[in-house]
Amino acid sequence: MMKILVTGGLGFIGSHTVVELVNAGYDPIIVDDLSNSSIKILGQLAKIIGYEPPLYQFDLCDEAAVKNFAAQEPEVGGIIHFAASKAVGESVKLPLKYYRNNFFSLVNILNAYEGKPLNFIFSSSCTVYGQPDVLPVTEDAPVKPAQSPYGNTKQIAEEILQDVIAAGSTYKIISLRYFNPVGAHESALIGELPIGVPQNLVPFITQTAIGKREMLTVFGDQYNTPDGSNIRDYIHVVDLAKAHVAALKLAEKDSFKGYDMFNIGTGKGTSVLEVIKAFEETTGVKLNYRIGPARAGDVEQVWGDVTKSTNQLGWKTELDVNTMMASAWNWEKYIAENPLQ
Ligand code: WQD
Repeated sequence: MMKILVTGGLGFIGSHTVVELVNAGYDPIIVDDLSNSSIKILGQLAKIIGYEPPLYQFDLCDEAAVKNFAAQEPEVGGIIHFAASKAVGESVKLPLKYYRNNFFSLVNILNAYEGKPLNFIFSSSCTVYGQPDVLPVTEDAPVKPAQSPYGNTKQIAEEILQDVIAAGSTYKIISLRYFNPVGAHESALIGELPIGVPQNLVPFITQTAIGKREMLTVFGDQYNTPDGSNIRDYIHVVDLAKAHVAALKLAEKDSFKGYDMFNIGTGKGTSVLEVIKAFEETTGVKLNYRIGPARAGDVEQVWGDVTKSTNQLGWKTELDVNTMMASAWNWEKYIAENPLQ
């Protein structure tokens, strides 16, 4: 079976991708420094896939450690690079933490396997589009000036990858521009484990519903949208994980050369108030929320055009917003009984 290195493989999207890689017959190897994940996820993965994948715990910013790892695992056929700091708000307060972590780790891992013909899948983000001029946003939409150091690291990382290809690298590289990943595996054994107060909408909803948070604040209802709340393209994390397998399969084709990137979303926009309504209707739990001021830096509305992904990756989402809410709620109830942090 082909070995696939999954950096950040114990994280939210990484762990779900490990499951889909095994389901597709790959042999995942996890590298994770546990800075934003729990070692307990390894045991949770074993309950789903039947074994604990190999885990190497070290900092990808440590060049010597990365070179040492590559010497131990020379037969890697593909790399899926999730490992990065990803909190938009924190990146504004701690830009150097984000530039160091997100760039040093990327450059080190690219350097370590340079010269080998392998497939590199990069975790990018719709945040590179900022507030698109036209919706749904397509991959050839202009990349807007980043609204945060986090977003800037994703934009510059995509440029680094294209420069590596232009220099004649042996790699084949695909960037996946995620929209908003939410939900959890149907087993409720893995899911999102935010540290501290959740910055993102859905974990804040489920923590409010279970009583960990007093009340959800909806950040603004005066936007130029049908119900006034802002709009995103929420995608089930399992659909997102499957997109990584589809990207690997595309890169493995002889016909694929060089670099490409794809929007990974549902192609539909859903407002914050619609998400809350879906949560309440799906779970039967009344959510305690209030309308508050808009959050600085939020774009008003963004959702993806996924025609290119559907046509060229042979992939599209299968799970709807109700399934996203039900799975997120099942996961929240699971970790209330089985703490994993
Ligand atoms: C979604 C919507 C908020 C919290 C960011 C990054 C993106 C990705 C996901 C890393 C917005 C509203 C939220 C709350 C609210 N990050 N909201 N009350 O900002 O779209 O995307 O996180 O991979 O790259 O840009 O996601 O979940 O923070 O917000 O009303 O308590 O929910 O205003 O409209 P966002 P989010």
